[in-house]
Amino acid sequence: MNSIDAGFSKMGLDGATRHAFLCIGPDCCATGEGMAVWEVLKAATLATGCRALRSKAACLRICSGGPWLLVYPEGIWYGGVTPERCHRIVAEHLIAGRPVREWMAQAHPLVACPPG
Ligand code: FES
Repeated sequence: MNSIDAGFSKMGLDGATRHAFLCIGPDCCATGEGMAVWEVLKAATLATGCRALRSKAACLRICSGGPWLLVYPEGIWYGGVTPERCHRIVAEHLIAGRPVREWMAQAHPLVACPPG
């Protein structure tokens, strides 16, 4: 296995069901606030065996009202995510597949590429 394949394997791309991108600031929120949510996102996904990929972002181009959590494939944008809210989003959306509607700021799924 080459180093690129090893990276895909390490991230768990095979079998991944969702991808969560979290902006940790510095403009939409204080970086410390974003990192507190990141630690919860990381710990909760690991503890539950959640098959969602997670990525830390430095900016999702909204730059206020964060931390922002964006979940694909549904294209759900959650603003003002707290550590407490993150636990519920992991349980209900990332694991059970039911977006937390009362915290959704936007829903914008992207069109999938055709196979091949
Ligand atoms: S810094 Fe978070 S959206 Fe720009």
